[in-house]
Amino acid sequence: METSKRAIIIDTDPGHDDAVAIQVALASPELDVLGITAVAGNVPLGLTEKNCRIICELAKRPETRVFAGAAGPMKRRLVTAENIHGKSGLDGPELPDPMMKLQAQNGVDFIIEVLKSSPEKTVTICALGPLTNIGLALQKAPEIVPRVKEIILMGGGFFEGGNVTPAAEFNIFVDPDAAALVFGSGIPLVVMPLDVTHKAQTTAARVKAFRNLDTQAGIATAELLDFFERFDEEKYGTDGGPLHDPNVIAYLLKPDLYSGRFVNVEIETESELTMGMTVVDYWKVTRRSPNAFWVTDLDADGFFELILHRIGTL
Ligand code: BDR
Ligand code: CA
Repeated sequence: METSKRAIIIDTDPGHDDAVAIQVALASPELDVLGITAVAGNVPLGLTEKNCRIICELAKRPETRVFAGAAGPMKRRLVTAENIHGKSGLDGPELPDPMMKLQAQNGVDFIIEVLKSSPEKTVTICALGPLTNIGLALQKAPEIVPRVKEIILMGGGFFEGGNVTPAAEFNIFVDPDAAALVFGSGIPLVVMPLDVTHKAQTTAARVKAFRNLDTQAGIATAELLDFFERFDEEKYGTDGGPLHDPNVIAYLLKPDLYSGRFVNVEIETESELTMGMTVVDYWKVTRRSPNAFWVTDLDADGFFELILHRIGTL
């Protein structure tokens, strides 16, 4: 019997690792990508929505619907990451400007509409950037909460600390108020924090495997990774850098690659010193109820095999 596809919305701020994640999702027959909603994050919204369209065309899926969502965080000033992703957000490969059009509807309204019009608990949100679009959707239409199947998100860090401040990871730091709404919503959450993504290293051999695919998508992915890893290689002194966002999609495809535990996670929204910190009750020292599955480990070879194979089909 044919199993039905899993319906997802990808909320994203491409971004090199977002670009790899989007390609893997579009290459996966198990997934039905209902739409891609862009958010400001790694670079401003005008670039993240354009980059979404560039990647859809690279994946030969120009019919994918791309929406622009929030241009900045719910309460704070936008912080971007051109130091890592370059001026365009996708520096490295030469990728043509997209021909496909941006959808007219706002991304936040699209998220609300899809959740309201789909059968309850059938739509999963894959969040690869700051959580602004999702926070705004929850604020505008709190009745969508019980309709979401699950949110799988890349963000936060506990054992690894932060990557943008000593305490905070970029996606949560950029919009801690949106993150607090998401973590407080009661929606089932799976979190891919730095604790696990730092174990998914783009070693030279892994990047070479993408280049050896000798396809447009394979070569572009290798060039994206070459650019993306240079900053973290220097920072951490590693062979390659962590590949964050594709773990969200890989978890959907092969959850057995991952392990973690159900814990309580609260978001710091007040202290400037620790703004955006994910405060994880990993050792259950409080009575706060678990609200997220916090992933800490993965089969890194299995993960890279999976995404290499999927991108190889594009
Ligand atoms: C996250 O921040 C962004 O730069 C990446 O795309 C990823 O989503 C990692 O902290
Ligand atoms: Ca991202």
